[in-house]
Amino acid sequence: MTPTANTSWIQVESLDVAYGNAPVLHQVSASFPERQVTAILGPSGCGKSTLLRVINRTLELTPEARVTGGQVHVKGRNILHPSEDIRSLRKQVGIVQQRPLAFPMSIQENVDFGRRHHHGRLQRKERDRITASLLERVGLWDEVKHRLDSSATRLSIGQLQRLCIARTLANDPDVILMDEPCSALDPESTATIETLIQELKATVTILIVTHNIAQARRISDQILFLLDGTVAEAGTNAEVMGAARNPRVRRFLSGEEG
Ligand SMILES: Nc1ncnc2c1ncn2[C@@H]1O[C@H](COP(=O)(O)OP(=O)(O)O)[C@@H](O)[C@H]1O
Ligand SMILES: [Mg+2]
Repeated sequence: MTPTANTSWIQVESLDVAYGNAPVLHQVSASFPERQVTAILGPSGCGKSTLLRVINRTLELTPEARVTGGQVHVKGRNILHPSEDIRSLRKQVGIVQQRPLAFPMSIQENVDFGRRHHHGRLQRKERDRITASLLERVGLWDEVKHRLDSSATRLSIGQLQRLCIARTLANDPDVILMDEPCSALDPESTATIETLIQELKATVTILIVTHNIAQARRISDQILFLLDGTVAEAGTNAEVMGAARNPRVRRFLSGEEG
């Protein structure tokens, strides 16, 4: 175990990932400190989603994806090891996917899905109380409180994004991986989610992929910047925002390059 494994919840070492024969992550090393927010930035296609999906092993749901080298430790445990209990890993490390997907069931059942899967059924009253509180926290309650039993597939993308965050929170994870969770949200809903992230930080380690530089500046403690599947820059928010060494990273952060 490396010395930093004790202080970082998540330690990625020399990670290589390919889709089929096409490599997409090359020798990516990064550490994500406990109870901090790390923003993962970089142009489209640089491998941000791929990196997140390695960390709770949802990448292997994509048959052509292969981890071809490296290691990932979560609290000192090698989670890529074949003996890893994937079900408990995914409870401990929750993900809000880039494309929010409703399960074909009611809004209520969607929120409760993961929690029920991991912890079993609750009394109806208790379940309703938890659902309401989760939907309040993600700023969705007022929009859906009169139709909790209707199908979640009819929600707008912005509503789905918040539903998926609530569904992940319901599992009570130690780590939340958020992949562009505000991409379809208006400024008011975005502010609600940013406040939620700041609250969660007291107990949860958060990795968030965002294309919104101002958001990264506001909410992150650490920044990891990827270019073409490699780490171009990593450090504290102030270090990367204020003094990135890589010229392309500087152009991207200043808005000259998107
Ligand atoms: N299932 C897949 N098969 C082949 N290539 C893929 C697949 N998923 C992603 N890629 C490619 O891998 C690269 C990284 O993708 P991704 O991790 O989604 O990037 P980002 O999230 O930074 O936009 C891109 O070039 C993308 O086209
Ligand atoms: Mg992505």
